[in-house]
Amino acid sequence: MAVTAFHTYRKDNWWLRPLLIFSGLTAFIIYTTWAAFQGDHYTFGPYLSPFYSPEIFGSSPHAWFGPQPSWWPAIIPFSPAFIILAGPAGMRFTCYYYRGSYYKAFWADPPACTVTEPRKTYKGEHSFPLIMQNIHRYFFYPAAAFVIILAYDAYKAMWFTDVAGETHFGMGIGTLVLAANATLLGCYTFGCHSFRHLVGGIRDQLSKSPIRKISYDCVSCLNRKHSNWAWLSLFCVLFADIYVRLCSMGVWTDLRIF
Ligand code: FES
Repeated sequence: MAVTAFHTYRKDNWWLRPLLIFSGLTAFIIYTTWAAFQGDHYTFGPYLSPFYSPEIFGSSPHAWFGPQPSWWPAIIPFSPAFIILAGPAGMRFTCYYYRGSYYKAFWADPPACTVTEPRKTYKGEHSFPLIMQNIHRYFFYPAAAFVIILAYDAYKAMWFTDVAGETHFGMGIGTLVLAANATLLGCYTFGCHSFRHLVGGIRDQLSKSPIRKISYDCVSCLNRKHSNWAWLSLFCVLFADIYVRLCSMGVWTDLRIF
C-alpha cells in the first residue's frame, strides 16, 4: 500500500508545534535582517543593542576601532551588525536543538514523530550540504566570547553620564534587559552539547578529574533545558534590540531604578 506524505495515526494536533516553530523563527529572521540593515538607533546612553555588539566599527561611542573603515566596499551597505552577526547566527543555525526543530518545521524532515515525510530517500547529515552542520563545535568558541562581551555590555549599562559629563553608577530597565540577555545567552551557550563533550570527555569516556566531572554536571544541568534556553535567549535578544531601538527613537522612556 502506498503511504502518502503526512500520513499518521496520531490524533493530536501534531502540526501545531512545527507551525509555531516555523512562525517564531521566520519572524525572528525577518526582524533581525531588518534591524541589521538599519545601522542606526542601536545605542541609547550606556546601552548597546546585542545585535550590534561588539561594535567593531561604527559611529557610536561604543565602537572599538572608530567609524566605518575606508576600505569597506562602496557597493555593500555598511552596518556594524553585518560584521558580527555570522557568529551567533552560525551557532544557532547549527545547534542540535534548532536543527531538530527547523528540519521538521521548514522542510518536514519528518514533520513530526510517526508522521510520514514527503520524500522517499533519507540522506540525513551524512552528505552535502547538511554534513556541514558538523562545524557546530567550532562555533562554540566565538559564541562563548560573545557571552563575555555581552556580560561586559551589561556591566557598562550600569554607568550613566549626567548633563555635566560626570559618570555615575545606576540602574535602568535597560540595564536589567541587557543583564537578562547576557544571562540567558550564557545558559544557552554553556549548555551546548559540544561544550558538554569538551568539558567532560576524553576519548569516548568521562574524565576522572573531579573538576571536569563537576563541570560536566553543571553543563549537563543546563543542557537538560537546552530548548528552553534556546527560545528564552532568542526572545530576550530580540526584545533587547527593540528596547534599545525604541528608547533611542524616543518612543519608549527608559525608567531609572536608581
Ligand atoms: Fe545547541 Fe550547541 S547544541 S548550542
